Amino acid sequence: MSDDLSPIHNRVTQLLGVDYPIIQAPMGWIARSQLASAVSNAGGLGIIETSSGELDNVRAEIAKMADLTDKPFGVNIAQAFVRDPGIAQFVIDQGVRFVTTSAGDPTKYTAQLKAAGLTVFHVVPTLAAALKAVAAGVDGLVVEGGEGGGFKNPRDVASMVLLPLVCSRVQVPVVAAGGITDGVSMAAAFALGAQGVQMGTRMVSAAESPVHDHWKQAIVQAAETDTVFLNRFSKPGLRALRTERTSRLEHQDHVEMSEMATALDLYFGGDMEASIALTGQVAGRIDAVLPVEQIIHDTVREFRHTVRELAQHG
Ligand SMILES: Cc1cc2nc3c(=O)[nH]c(=O)nc-3n(C[C@H](O)[C@H](O)[C@H](O)COP(=O)(O)O)c2cc1C
Repeated sequence: MSDDLSPIHNRVTQLLGVDYPIIQAPMGWIARSQLASAVSNAGGLGIIETSSGELDNVRAEIAKMADLTDKPFGVNIAQAFVRDPGIAQFVIDQGVRFVTTSAGDPTKYTAQLKAAGLTVFHVVPTLAAALKAVAAGVDGLVVEGGEGGGFKNPRDVASMVLLPLVCSRVQVPVVAAGGITDGVSMAAAFALGAQGVQMGTRMVSAAESPVHDHWKQAIVQAAETDTVFLNRFSKPGLRALRTERTSRLEHQDHVEMSEMATALDLYFGGDMEASIALTGQVAGRIDAVLPVEQIIHDTVREFRHTVRELAQHG
C-alpha cells in the first residue's frame, strides 16, 4: 500500500484548514481535549462537545486545546441538549472557527454563528432536513446514516441510500457520518458524493478516548448485529451497544432519557450495565484499540489505495 500521507485537497479540507477531511464526532463527555487534540494533531479535525451541558468544563477543555495543538478544531452544538440559551454566543466567545450544529432546527443558530465569521455545518438524517439546512445558509452538511451510533431519527436511513440522495440535491460540501471506520468506508462515502467523513464509534474505541476500557473492548468484541435501536416508535431514537440492559429496553415502547442519568458510571466507571453505550453498527468492523494517529493515517493510506484500485478497474 502506498505511504502517501500528503494532504488531501478538496472543499472540506479548504473550509476546515486541515490536511485530511476526517472529523472526529462530537460525543458528550468523550469529545474533549485528550481525544480532539490527538485527532487535530494527526491532520484531521477534532471536535469538542457541548452536549454534556457542562459549559465550564467545556470552556476549560477548549482552553487546553491551545496547549495541546496548534491545528484547527471545532465545537458542536447538539441543540436537543442545549440548556443555556446563550450557547451560540458561548461558542463564538471561545474563538473557534468551525462549528457543527445537530439535533435541531438549522434556522436557530446559523445566521448568528455565520455573522460572527464561523463556518457552520449542520447534521442531517434526511433529504428534507438537508434542504432546510441549505436554505438556512449553512456552509456544509454532515449527512448521518442510521447505522451510526448516538441519537437518531426513528425513521433511520442507511448511508448507502441517504448520501447519494442528498449529494445529488445540494451544492454544499457533504461530510458522511455513520459506518465510517477506515479507508474503504471513506472511499465508499466519496464515491457516493461526500468530500469528508466523520467517525464516532471508531473514535470512542481509540487509545486516546477517555472512556473505560470495558467499553472499548466491548466495541472490539461486537459483531455487526450487536447494536440495538431504542425508541423506534417514540423519541428520541438512539442506537446503542447491545447489552443485557439495552436488550430489555429494545422491547419497551418508550425509553426514558433518565436511563442516561447514570451514563458516567458506564462511560468512565466501566459498568456496561449501568446505562446506555451509544455505539454504531460499525463496531462490528473494529477489531483493535488503536492510537488516533494510526487510525487516521491508515485511513488516508487505504483511501488512496482503494481509489487507485477502483480507477484501474473502471
Ligand atoms: C457515544 C456517542 C455520543 C454521541 N454524541 C453526539 C453529540 O453530542 N452530538 C452529535 O452531533 N452527535 C453525537 N453522536 C453521533 C456522532 O456525532 C456521529 O455522527 C456518529 O457516531 C457517526 O456514526 P458512527 O458511530 O458509525 O461513526 C454521538 C455518537 C456516539 C457514538
